[in-house]
Amino acid sequence: MLNQDVYDELVGKFEKMYGEKPQVVAYAPGRIEVLGNHTDYNEGYVFSAAIDKGTFFAASPTSDDKCELTAGDFMETAKFTLSTVVPAKEMTWQNYVTGTFNWLFDGNPASAKHGWKGMFLGNIPLGAGLSSSAALEMCTALALSKIYGIEKDKTTLAKIGQKAEHTFAGCPCGLLDQASSMYGKAGALVKSDFRFNTFETVDLGPTVAFMMVKSNAKHALVDGAYASRRQACEDAAKYFAGVLRKPVTHLRDVTMAEWVLYRGGLSETTARRAVHPIGEDERVLQGASLLEKGDLNAFGALMYDSHESSRSWFENSCEELDTIVDAAKAIPEVYGARLSGGGFGGSCCLLVDPAAADKIAAQITKEYKAKHGDEPTVSLIKPSDGAHLV
Ligand code: GLA
Repeated sequence: MLNQDVYDELVGKFEKMYGEKPQVVAYAPGRIEVLGNHTDYNEGYVFSAAIDKGTFFAASPTSDDKCELTAGDFMETAKFTLSTVVPAKEMTWQNYVTGTFNWLFDGNPASAKHGWKGMFLGNIPLGAGLSSSAALEMCTALALSKIYGIEKDKTTLAKIGQKAEHTFAGCPCGLLDQASSMYGKAGALVKSDFRFNTFETVDLGPTVAFMMVKSNAKHALVDGAYASRRQACEDAAKYFAGVLRKPVTHLRDVTMAEWVLYRGGLSETTARRAVHPIGEDERVLQGASLLEKGDLNAFGALMYDSHESSRSWFENSCEELDTIVDAAKAIPEVYGARLSGGGFGGSCCLLVDPAAADKIAAQITKEYKAKHGDEPTVSLIKPSDGAHLV
């Protein structure tokens, strides 16, 4: 569904339910992660982009302390008051919104002067690793900020969404998804530095596009695999802080040469986990100078290296994602490919020549089907503008 159609459907449903148009509508896109995997919570670097699909949030204030929130696709409504904003065990989709509302008011939504009624609808495929949940948090943050006259900068809103994930949704994510949704720019990549929370955009020429290939492997970051990877990285950083004669707070501070020299003091598994974000940081920095030179082939090679590191060290790939990347490698019009986001299922991100999109999609679909019996979902992605009020 096109964004305009999603907007029209949402506003139509809101009007039907409440007999009036929403006072505010905000939009926030999903994101693709292009290079730099599991580096955000290690205070490292990432190349990402906001995508041309997203979520709209429509809202109006209420005159009392009541709030209600409707999921516009299956028209399920959650009701609560300003003093009962807590993580829900049922209809857990509401946690992304209520968590964001909670932290917009610094954990004290009861201090808000009135409630709100809201409805959301989007077109990001769920479970694809395109950050539909961050998109929902960011459009909520913008719409509710507008309703209450709250002025906060983009990074602060991104952190509010991240806190909602940690405390209401139960996912200990970094800041990548929310920041990409806020800072995206049409035709550009976002280069993030998560130590200083700086976000630059890097324009891409018209001769490249991204293709997302969604495997049918389950992708859920709320279960333990993501958290255990993050824990291993934190354990490794503590170890390096003890053996290196320099300040180390995160794996960002550790070089590949240091890992090679000192890995012997780590357990085999922790060492394997740690080398992935360390290598990814190096790849993003190298990738930045390759993009400046316009060397897409070399940039793409780094994407393949990134996937290999996921596959063999971080172990956040799976057979389905490997099939997609292996198929991509054999197609000359694909510059590079890798898993995108948390991993353990979800999607691969391919850097491609858009003129060959049909051929690439057909070839990958054929190989995936031969191995796994079903077909992946393929879509061309246009890097797009970040979250905004409509
Ligand atoms: C998920 C998380 C992000 C980031 C990526 C991996 O998308 O939400 O914070 O850690 O995985 O790079």
